[in-house]
Amino acid sequence: MKNPKSLVLLIFSIAMGSQLIFAQTHNIQVDFKKPGSPIQKTMYGIFFEDINYGADGGLYAEMIKNRSFEFPQSLLGWTSFGNVEVRTDDPAFPNNPHYVRLSYPGHDEKRTGLDNEGFFGVSVKKDADYRFSVWARLPEDENSSIRIEFIDSESNIFSSQKLTIDSKEWKKYQVIIKASKTELKGRLRIFLTSKNTLDLDHVSLFPVDTWKGRENGLRKDLAQALYDLHPGVFRFPGGCIVEGTDLNTRYQWKNSVGPVENRKLNENRWEYTFPNRFFPDYFQSYGMGFFELFQLSEDIGAEPLPVISCGLACQFQNHSDKANVPVSEIQPYVQDALDLIEFANGNVTTKWGKLRADMGHPASFNLKMMAVGNEQWGSLYPERLEPFMKAIRAKYPNFKIIGTAGPSPDGKDFDYGWAQMKKMKADLVDEHYYRDPQWFLSNANRYDKYDRKGPKVFAGEYACHPKNRINNFESALSEAAFMTGFERNADVVYQCTYAPLFAHVQGWQWKPDLIWFDNLRSVQSVNYYVQQLYGMNVGTNVLTTVEDKLPLEGQDGLYASSALDKNKKEIILKIANTSDAVQKVTYTFNGLKAAGRTGTQTVLKSDNLDLENTLDNPNAVIPVTKDLNVSGNTLELELAPKSFNLYTIKL
Ligand code: AHR
Repeated sequence: MKNPKSLVLLIFSIAMGSQLIFAQTHNIQVDFKKPGSPIQKTMYGIFFEDINYGADGGLYAEMIKNRSFEFPQSLLGWTSFGNVEVRTDDPAFPNNPHYVRLSYPGHDEKRTGLDNEGFFGVSVKKDADYRFSVWARLPEDENSSIRIEFIDSESNIFSSQKLTIDSKEWKKYQVIIKASKTELKGRLRIFLTSKNTLDLDHVSLFPVDTWKGRENGLRKDLAQALYDLHPGVFRFPGGCIVEGTDLNTRYQWKNSVGPVENRKLNENRWEYTFPNRFFPDYFQSYGMGFFELFQLSEDIGAEPLPVISCGLACQFQNHSDKANVPVSEIQPYVQDALDLIEFANGNVTTKWGKLRADMGHPASFNLKMMAVGNEQWGSLYPERLEPFMKAIRAKYPNFKIIGTAGPSPDGKDFDYGWAQMKKMKADLVDEHYYRDPQWFLSNANRYDKYDRKGPKVFAGEYACHPKNRINNFESALSEAAFMTGFERNADVVYQCTYAPLFAHVQGWQWKPDLIWFDNLRSVQSVNYYVQQLYGMNVGTNVLTTVEDKLPLEGQDGLYASSALDKNKKEIILKIANTSDAVQKVTYTFNGLKAAGRTGTQTVLKSDNLDLENTLDNPNAVIPVTKDLNVSGNTLELELAPKSFNLYTIKL
């Protein structure tokens, strides 16, 4: 080295390490002159599946397990005492024929009744009201009565109410019980208080204070958490449960609508999928069925996106075509799809439109799209998808059909699936990826290379899985960085939904998950906050964002995208710094008039990549927002190491 100055600089560089990286400023150009592709309103959404006790024992606020005595073991979830008999003669509800008969135990000092253990306990909050309801009848002429009791974990009764049964016909009775204390691991007891026999069915307990106060309602904190995400699209009800372990146990939407008492129970495949997390009491009551899911979509302002069975039983669990419906016999499945569109949108004079109206929603749910199949692969899929496409297109030419590229984000089956979807002109293709942080970071450019002329992308299930599969900050930051690639490619990526959505802390089968809960509390994971930042700041158009003419896809650990929101009249900048160093960044807004402007700056950061939000420490990593003042048409920033940053600038 001839130049001594260079030598000094080199030694200095080695000595200073990352500080020199700090000194380098990234000059980022945002093209404000020519707003780019529109960003779909559906861009950031949610995906609900009854996994991890997401529905029964979760979002669906019913507190009684096996309320209709229809589990294969009729009294699973119940402890009976005295003279209790399970019967099926002359039932109240033909699809759910089992009920219990409570009779005098034979001696005044003996007792008859039954306790329900709830989902991981019957959990109540002090001073809150709970609606107990039951269908009952008198097999004989005399009135009979029961006492309904809340029992704590030490077997003490702490609240109770009486109910008199006065009809020989099946009739619904209800009573409100106020909890005199908070109890997480309680039970509900039904105590026969008369010598006279009675029959009981569909025993139900809900908090009065459900989401929107509905009687067959949803847990308020969990529904609110969904609303707060501002989701653009709502995919339901699965996932693998759509397919079924066998076709008999696939999700059949028609079984999930109509009077709640008569909805046929289905097993839940997540009961036994992972033998190391086996839950013999995990079933689908369908109390939160397709009507309630459409209603929830409407409540949270998201486009509904039902997924229906394409006649293939879960391909992971079945290795022969014998498990599937033959293509020649697929018509009833296709009819289910057509009927579903009629249920959602049809006039109230149509068969299925009338049912929707009878259930309380005469107005259309305005369903615009449907996914046929979940994670399907190989030639079995396109040959079954075809009759669906033909029939749906013939009747509803503008309806969007979503096909699948299978369970992996690449490989032979994925390529085959995509090629078929292009050939068949599916409107969107559903891609799934559960991968590690490195995959997410190195795939932020994934969609830059996609064919712009083919079907659009729906990233229908994705989540970053770090080493021990926890919802740690590292996974959230990797997702935030990766998602800049969704936004930058909004001309081809139309929607995306993180998966899975919910998990009960005691009842999970799969993790990580977006929202965790026990029976009384819930917590938003760090990943939730990433989804929320995107969901609340969608924008209307992409703004080209480059450094040295290249998108920021990992240079010095930086990932960036920008959007214009024509409605809110603001610019939205999203930038992740995944490096260990502070990064100096100067944004220049080409085409924007220099002026003083206001805005906001939000940062999600942590020094500890393994940190996660928990029920006991829900705010370990949360976004922090401050005001921002901008002068001229540039913005100089110092991005903290390991941070996701979001700026809004008012125009
Ligand atoms: O999200 C959990 C499961 O992952 C879904 O049910 C399935 O589609 C995927 O394999």
